[in-house]
Amino acid sequence: MRILLGVTAGIAAYKVPFLIRLLVKQGAEVRCVMTPDARDFVSPLVLSTLSNHPVAIEFWNKETGAWNNHVALAEWADLLVICPCTANTLSKMASGACDNLLLAIFLSMRNKTILFPAMDLEMYRHPTVQRNMDQLEQDGSIIVPAEYGELASGLSGQGRLPEPETLLEYILGVVASKRDFLGKNVVVTAGPTYEAIDPVRFIGNHASGKMGLALAERLAERGADVLLVLGPSKCSVSHPKIKVCSVVSAEEMWNEVKNNWDSMDFGFFAAAVADYQPERASQHKIKKSAGESMALTLVKTPDILAWAGKHKKEHQRIIGFALETQNGEVNAKEKLHTKKADYMVLNVPVENESGFNAETNKVCIFGKDDRLWDIPLMQKREVANAILNVITNTQ
Ligand code: PMT
Repeated sequence: MRILLGVTAGIAAYKVPFLIRLLVKQGAEVRCVMTPDARDFVSPLVLSTLSNHPVAIEFWNKETGAWNNHVALAEWADLLVICPCTANTLSKMASGACDNLLLAIFLSMRNKTILFPAMDLEMYRHPTVQRNMDQLEQDGSIIVPAEYGELASGLSGQGRLPEPETLLEYILGVVASKRDFLGKNVVVTAGPTYEAIDPVRFIGNHASGKMGLALAERLAERGADVLLVLGPSKCSVSHPKIKVCSVVSAEEMWNEVKNNWDSMDFGFFAAAVADYQPERASQHKIKKSAGESMALTLVKTPDILAWAGKHKKEHQRIIGFALETQNGEVNAKEKLHTKKADYMVLNVPVENESGFNAETNKVCIFGKDDRLWDIPLMQKREVANAILNVITNTQ
């Protein structure tokens, strides 16, 4: 794995030496390219010592007379990682400017480029910066959104560069992304279920299907053939490797999983399935009666995840999700064991920014061997990638 690490002039550059060490420990060959101003934030001597290669900064080194060939560097790299990536560099890249060595390499890359933007929160959310990131994503770069948290300015918000271990997870995920689920059959459940009370009423919940869809899309991108069993949802899906099967109730969702389970390698159970359904759905709309109250008799729905756990074969892996309002860790671990899952993803509440219907999510993942991975608050698509990275790195 040959990684060209581009460093631009942001305070978060202090994390780059740690990242180089982690990459080298993974067996990667790392070469560094800096923008001239990045030298004020981290010393080229540190980067060249840790990467064991001279750092390229200018097209032409006036002292030695050596020429840094941007085309040769771009051809050498399996992956260009720009970390941190400042607003200035984002802007230049989005417009195709080419006034330094790093930008010339970026324009010469045939392999993937992954960008880790990091800056202060107002800059990060400025429409021009957002527009530049969208443009670069459309043009094929992989943008890893900045994290939320404490910033160098003393303010708190989105703009923070992830910690080196998390940067490494992303990079490994991208490196592996061409192949790690290739040839795998995967079923994903997503969305809510609706349990009919009568023809016009149901028992349901606020799940949107976004988390399950994000998983299905990332799995498909990483090579899997995906069956998405989707409860009532407004999400639309159009990936050639995702087959969508729309269902309404827990019973219907269970039937689809059961009918396809034998051919599956993985099951991701991200649906918020109703635990109970009315014992009998009324054929006609239930009329308001004279009494002050009414009672519905509910019976348990099939537990789809537990069924899959019970029928799991040696090669199959099961990933459950847990949504709790109290004792999250204890309950998630209990579900992991009783439902015989291999991993349990616990939604961690962050007001309006995680769980049902949000665009972002904050989760932690429990493994069977009591391992724990804490995933920061990110877009659901990035959370999905982080979950897949954990799975492939621990198989
Ligand atoms: O769809 P979004 O709006 O994006 O929201 C995503 C989400 C919050 C719904 C998702 O991240 C999530 O946490 N899904 C599981 C929610 C849930 O129902 O958790 P639970 O703790 O009740 O269930 C535990 C596990 O058992 C889940 O994997 C669930 O799919 C499964 N289950 C539960 C009951 C049942 N009858 N059958 C099941 O398979």
